[in-house]
Amino acid sequence: ITGPGSHDHTDDLRLAHVLADDADSITQARFKSLDLHVMSKPDLTPVTDADKAVEEGIRRTLSRVRSRDAVVGEEQGSTGHSQRRWIVDPIDGTKNFVRGVPVWATLIALAVDDEVVLGVVSAPQLQRRWWASVGNGAWTGRSLLKATKCEVSDVRRLEDASLSYSSLGGWDERDRLDDFVSLSRRCWRTRAYGDFWSYMLLAEGAVDIAAEPELELYDMAALDVIVREAGGRFTSLDGTDGPWGGNALASNGHLHDAALSFLGSLGDDGSDPDVPRRGPGSVS
Ligand code: IPD
Ligand code: CA
Ligand code: CA
Ligand code: CA
Repeated sequence: ITGPGSHDHTDDLRLAHVLADDADSITQARFKSLDLHVMSKPDLTPVTDADKAVEEGIRRTLSRVRSRDAVVGEEQGSTGHSQRRWIVDPIDGTKNFVRGVPVWATLIALAVDDEVVLGVVSAPQLQRRWWASVGNGAWTGRSLLKATKCEVSDVRRLEDASLSYSSLGGWDERDRLDDFVSLSRRCWRTRAYGDFWSYMLLAEGAVDIAAEPELELYDMAALDVIVREAGGRFTSLDGTDGPWGGNALASNGHLHDAALSFLGSLGDDGSDPDVPRRGPGSVS
């Protein structure tokens, strides 16, 4: 899992894979189950008994084997205080999960002192897993023994770039749909691969830019380290590194500034900051 001379997160990464194995058992048993219980959250998005059971299971194991660590999870919020924080999205792509679309995953990350040091993305219905720890590259495979290295693309011009997004609604709500459409028009193609899938395709070099205007820490933490270790860049839409800003722009690195020049004035709270926006005309 790790290479020589690397940062040593071997035990934590191994644990993250065990947590993902347990999550896979739950999600696979519940996917397309006739008695899947779907509830509505206050924001009217769906959550299922599988989302809740996965987070509960991960928390139970962590409280046993990493009792001093803090946990941030989508369904139960933040618990504990520690420099070490496990960040969990029990099912990313719940809307796919409830409709029987196989593109969903459990996202598990560990942040130490506000740096995401490892991440695992497990999509059992796709028979795929991706993982990374700082300094050891990003990897993907059906099993840990048959892993291949993830590397971002070498595409350098927007005209040749594949752009992926998850939902247009967020851009619209923030009155930034025009900016997104302008970028989309400059790119070679635009597809809504959605959720974690956009970012894992980016890490594999199949997509060159992925952007979303409204995300939480648990949506992004695991994706951040995998994209970075694959050679890409992961920032907020204001260009700040890391998954801390409430939105995401990921790219192969070469295209980051060009994409930022279209989308890059969306502040943390979605408001336009005072700095003047650079228009598409400034992209060379
Ligand atoms: C959703 C995904 C999606 C984003 C939504 C999230 P969930 O997560 O991350 O890409 O556009 O805002 O809620 O609810 O399926 O874990
Ligand atoms: Ca959700
Ligand atoms: Ca999510
Ligand atoms: Ca979720």
